[in-house]
Amino acid sequence: MDKVKYYHIITYGCQMNEHDSEKLAGMLENMNYKYTDQLEKADIILLNTCIIRENAELKVFGKLGELKRYKRKNPNLIIGVGGCMMQQDQPVDEIYKKYRHVDLIFGTHNIHHLPELINKIEKNRERVVEVWDEADGLIPDLPSQRESDYSAWISIIQGCDNFCTYCIVPYVRGRERSRPLKSIVKEAEKLAEDGVKEITLLGQNVNSYGNDLKEKVDFPLLLEALNKVGKLKRIRFMTSHPRDFSDSLLEKIKNLDKVVNHIHLPVQSGSTKVLKEMNRGYSREYYIETVKKIQAEIPEAAVSTDFIVGFPGEKEEDFEQTLELVKELRFDMAYTFIYSPRSGTPASRREDQVADKVKKERLNRLMELQNKISYEKNQNLLGTIQKVLVTGPSSSDENVYQGRTETNKICFIDKRPDLIGKIVEVKINSAKSWTLNGTLINRVKI
Ligand code: 5AD
Ligand code: SF4
Repeated sequence: MDKVKYYHIITYGCQMNEHDSEKLAGMLENMNYKYTDQLEKADIILLNTCIIRENAELKVFGKLGELKRYKRKNPNLIIGVGGCMMQQDQPVDEIYKKYRHVDLIFGTHNIHHLPELINKIEKNRERVVEVWDEADGLIPDLPSQRESDYSAWISIIQGCDNFCTYCIVPYVRGRERSRPLKSIVKEAEKLAEDGVKEITLLGQNVNSYGNDLKEKVDFPLLLEALNKVGKLKRIRFMTSHPRDFSDSLLEKIKNLDKVVNHIHLPVQSGSTKVLKEMNRGYSREYYIETVKKIQAEIPEAAVSTDFIVGFPGEKEEDFEQTLELVKELRFDMAYTFIYSPRSGTPASRREDQVADKVKKERLNRLMELQNKISYEKNQNLLGTIQKVLVTGPSSSDENVYQGRTETNKICFIDKRPDLIGKIVEVKINSAKSWTLNGTLINRVKI
């Protein structure tokens, strides 16, 4: 019998990338590779890279340097690099020339070719580079080696047509391509049969789902179809673009029982001037009105957002408008980023870049304000009963278990292995900015 072969995958970036890594793992499992968490044991190591901010790129180069010693120990080791960073010429050239221990470079549009590419390397022992500039339609449905038995991602739309002036994603992930509704529903049914309780629908902009399809479908209709999948309990989705957040979508979130009351609605800035220069397609007033509508229609809903501070030309008064917006809307949670110029994007060519010191100072002020609000909002939950999908031991203490509320907040409970994968009722006893603590009151029979 052949010796067992092992793989290890290191993923950077967003859920889309995490999901792609599950597909890469699925293909490797089909090729009889087994997962290992020990790099020294691996016969193949893949890096699935991200290019959204400079930090993400630096991490990849650091990791590649580190991997050299594994190759020295085991010359047969295959090291492959894929993902968004490989869709740009500059990092590909640099890796090809300077990191001679990398055997394989592939892009985001051809992940389904992984088995062929590996076979080629195994057979000829030569370095292989295969990156496609354009998506050749949708990436075919691939088997996923899922990380969780109870939660699963489903990609509903690939690519992005928005061209926000700071963002590299449209250049590396291509144009918007929606999956046919039937194939999404079929995937959800199969996952539910396999015991999955919660699905998260993924897309750079889920609200434009269906725009490019011949069939007359849109995102609200998709939610309605998925809500009928019997054994499924929760439907999450991300990311929504505020410009396309419609009343009919709000109505579905409110009325479809499985669609969770959590909306991630990245605003990026509270200044209409900056939003315009970002090409976001909405004003400060429109965004405020949209969130207020959500809060009025679904008072228990959690709204989270993303901010970029230090976009070129952002003045102190623009930034203060961001702080004012945060005070007015009181998000449950916000991801805050320092603007990072990405080569090839319009904003990176501007001459009025904000100084690093100013960017950092603004980030700290924004984070401080948001942490305080998140803390206060979580204090409001003390004594309430939340439905928590228990996922297992917490990452820092295996005697404490954790799960997520419907509103996507992390909640800790006492260790109870029999509850993994179940949705249980928990009474909230204490809370911090990012986490809740609770006690089990009753097991929901689902
Ligand atoms: N610099 C900083 N943050 C960025 N994002 C996207 N592009 C950049 C960039 N060039 C942030 C946005 C987006 C999130 C996924 O990443 O806030 O919503
Ligand atoms: Fe995800 Fe964007 Fe990073 Fe690509 S560049 S992995 S789409 S965050």
